[in-house]
Amino acid sequence: MKTGTLLLMVVLLILACSVFSSDTRVTSRKPKCREDERSALLEFKRAFFRKSMCASYDGQLESWRVAEGEAGDCCAWDGVECNEETGRVVSLDLENSCLHGPIGSNASLFRLVRLQRLNLAANDFKLSQIPSAIGNLRELTRLVLFDSSFRGQIPQEVLNLTNLSFLDLSYNALELKSPSIENLVQSLTKMEGLNLSQVLMSGPLPEVLADLSNLTSLVLANCSLQGELPMATFELPRLKTLDVSVNKNLSVRMPEFHWRSPLKSLLLAWTRCSSQLPGSLGNLNSLIELNIASCELSGVIPSSVGELAQLYTLDLSGNQLTGEIPPSLGKLVGLTYLDLSSNQLSGEIPSSLMNLTEVTLFDLSYNRLTGQIPSQISGLTSVLMLDLSYNRLEGLMPRTISELKNLNKFTVVSNNLNGTAQFDMLMKHQSLQALYLSFNNFSLVTQDLNVSLSKIVVLGLASCSLTEFPKFLTKLDTLEWIDLSYNGISGQVPQWLLNVSTENLAHLNLSKNSLTGFPSYPVKFKWANLQTLDLRYNGMEGPLPLPPRAILFYLASNNKLTGQIPQAMCQLSSIQILDLANNELLGVLPSCLSNLSSTLLTLSLHGNRFHGRIPRLQRGVRIEND
Ligand SMILES: *[C@@H]1O[C@H](CO)[C@@H](O)[C@H](O)[C@H]1NC(C)=O
Ligand SMILES: *[C@@H]1O[C@H](CO)[C@@H](O)[C@H](O)[C@H]1NC(C)=O
Ligand SMILES: *[C@@H]1O[C@H](CO)[C@@H](O)[C@H](O)[C@H]1NC(C)=O
Ligand SMILES: *[C@@H]1O[C@H](CO)[C@@H](O)[C@H](O)[C@H]1NC(C)=O
Ligand SMILES: *[C@@H]1O[C@H](CO)[C@@H](O)[C@H](O)[C@H]1NC(C)=O
Ligand SMILES: *[C@@H]1O[C@H](CO)[C@@H](O)[C@H](O)[C@H]1NC(C)=O
Ligand SMILES: *[C@@H]1O[C@H](CO)[C@@H](O)[C@H](O)[C@H]1NC(C)=O
Ligand SMILES: *[C@@H]1O[C@H](CO)[C@@H](O)[C@H](O)[C@H]1NC(C)=O
Ligand SMILES: *[C@@H]1O[C@H](CO)[C@@H](O)[C@H](O)[C@H]1NC(C)=O
Ligand SMILES: *[C@@H]1O[C@H](CO)[C@@H](O)[C@H](O)[C@H]1NC(C)=O
Ligand SMILES: *[C@@H]1O[C@H](CO)[C@@H](O)[C@H](O)[C@H]1NC(C)=O
Ligand SMILES: *[C@@H]1O[C@H](CO)[C@@H](O)[C@H](O)[C@H]1NC(C)=O
Repeated sequence: MKTGTLLLMVVLLILACSVFSSDTRVTSRKPKCREDERSALLEFKRAFFRKSMCASYDGQLESWRVAEGEAGDCCAWDGVECNEETGRVVSLDLENSCLHGPIGSNASLFRLVRLQRLNLAANDFKLSQIPSAIGNLRELTRLVLFDSSFRGQIPQEVLNLTNLSFLDLSYNALELKSPSIENLVQSLTKMEGLNLSQVLMSGPLPEVLADLSNLTSLVLANCSLQGELPMATFELPRLKTLDVSVNKNLSVRMPEFHWRSPLKSLLLAWTRCSSQLPGSLGNLNSLIELNIASCELSGVIPSSVGELAQLYTLDLSGNQLTGEIPPSLGKLVGLTYLDLSSNQLSGEIPSSLMNLTEVTLFDLSYNRLTGQIPSQISGLTSVLMLDLSYNRLEGLMPRTISELKNLNKFTVVSNNLNGTAQFDMLMKHQSLQALYLSFNNFSLVTQDLNVSLSKIVVLGLASCSLTEFPKFLTKLDTLEWIDLSYNGISGQVPQWLLNVSTENLAHLNLSKNSLTGFPSYPVKFKWANLQTLDLRYNGMEGPLPLPPRAILFYLASNNKLTGQIPQAMCQLSSIQILDLANNELLGVLPSCLSNLSSTLLTLSLHGNRFHGRIPRLQRGVRIEND
């Protein structure tokens, strides 16, 4: 090897080492935080950190301390960032840090005048106002104070923070009246993300909103906005999120969308659209979330909605939409949430919708849909909630429904479905927790069904032409709620029924049958947690059964119950409604009924043969008697 080459290598080595060491020197020379800022931080911690006062806590402030013999570089503390050159604190992230107590302008925090980013969200400042000293922090670009128990008018001084590009003051008890939203928008012209949800404004949104040309996110949900949403808002060139939901007095007129829009989330629910959906909605091809529920929409769903290929949430529920469901919605293969309920949609359910393999909620309830449930319904392979109730669907329940193994809640209440419901097929998956078949024209075959795996909790079988109690109920020990009303069940309640789901049953409705009574008296109910027992409109004879102690609603009117009200009835310490009207009960009312005053809302006794006085009940209890 030549000397020259060796020399070169040595030089390179030295250079490399010096680069390396100067690098480490930069790190080690990185300025420590200034003493005044460190003490401002420690003072802030002392004044507000109350670990014992909060349930969950992200943990930053534990690192804020000065160990003995150490300088205590606050730039290294969790949640603190300093400028690399000056060592000044430029960013403070104290979200969910157990800060607790009223805060004022004297708080030491406001001495950190070089702060550019401040996050005090999810703490509890005890309904303080936002201190006017916030205006000292002139360099702020990002201010996040959501859900921190601030109250009152947002101070004028916020308008001095002209470099702010992100402001989130949502979910406090704040007001923006003077200064107004208009003042704010005029001052903070660099705004990119503005979230003032639940800040009370009660004015119209200013047209100058359209001047915030860099705005990407505007979230003003539940702000009591009035007047009209400026049309130009939709044209903001960078806007990705527009959320003005829950401003019931805000009129929203949607334009025809003839430009390329980056809008991803368009959330207008619970405002006042009072118009039709624009046919050009399909041009918003970046949309992933469209929620225009309860917005007084009328007219049809434009088939161009099917062009919104990125969409994963579509909620148009609670409007007055008419016409048919456009089959083009079947093209929205990424959809996970489809809610078209509570409209006036008619026609058949397009079988193309059954290609929506990602959809978890599929709700077409409360419309005027006709025809059959498409047998391709098994294509909704991810569906958890399937609601087709309150329509005019007819014909058979397709067997293929049983292939939906993730189904958690299925309801077809109030349609014209007929034939034999595939009941055991429906209940063969452990995922099914709620099944509502009430008010159709089914004939349910219920004998000897194998429902051994079922974990069903809620079962609606009202008006299902049952003539006896389905024996499979004995196997359903997770049941909490069952409705067997409006059937043709006659005779005595069988002894085994009293054994059904003894630990869990909370609601039992047997009304509107032809039941004559219980197998033995006194009736011993084993349902320790029963809250509702509805026996109304049967032909129940014999003495009034005493419901379980936990009962809230005991409804036994319109039967043929005889005898007196037992004294033990006075021990129902949670009862709210006691309805015994139209029976053949008699005698003197037990005076101890007045013990029930504190919970009782309604006591209904008319149509019996009681005599004597009605016991003194607290004012406010509705007493129906003749
Ligand atoms: C701020 O001033 C109030 C009185 O105006 C006082 O009660 C409070 O202790 C002071 N807080 C701090 C952190 O100095
Ligand atoms: C606002 O930002 C600009 C550009 O980043 C900067 O030059 C200016 O000093 C900032 N103003 C304040 C008050 O910090
Ligand atoms: C805030 O801005 C107003 C004008 O917009 C100005 O008069 C006032 O001095 C500013 N306040 C501070 C503390 O800079
Ligand atoms: C908008 O953002 C661009 C860069 O992203 C910036 O140059 C421009 O100054 C911003 N406009 C306003 C009004 O802040
Ligand atoms: C407020 O809106 C912004 C922008 O959409 C979002 O990033 C932020 O999470 C929202 N804040 C809350 C508390 O939801
Ligand atoms: C709207 O805000 C009020 C408080 O201002 C709150 O009580 C209410 O629950 C909110 N409504 C919704 C739908 O978030
Ligand atoms: C809507 O406006 C009416 C009439 O001005 C008012 O009475 C009502 O309180 C407002 N409702 C809301 C939610 O702001
Ligand atoms: C549904 O999907 C199947 C198979 O992926 C396809 O053949 C059929 O055309 C699709 N139907 C509609 C209406 O998109
Ligand atoms: C079921 O209803 C359809 C029409 O809705 C009818 O044609 C059919 O006969 C009915 N089937 C039964 C078993 O009642
Ligand atoms: C229910 O089906 C029976 C025949 O099974 C029929 O007589 C009756 O009209 C149907 N009721 C309704 C409301 O469709
Ligand atoms: C009930 O069905 C389960 C699974 O579907 C099966 O393992 C079990 O043997 C069946 N029981 C009877 C009595 O058929
Ligand atoms: C009800 O369950 C008890 C055990 O809790 C049992 O002894 C009794 O035989 C059962 N009665 C009926 C009718 O199933």
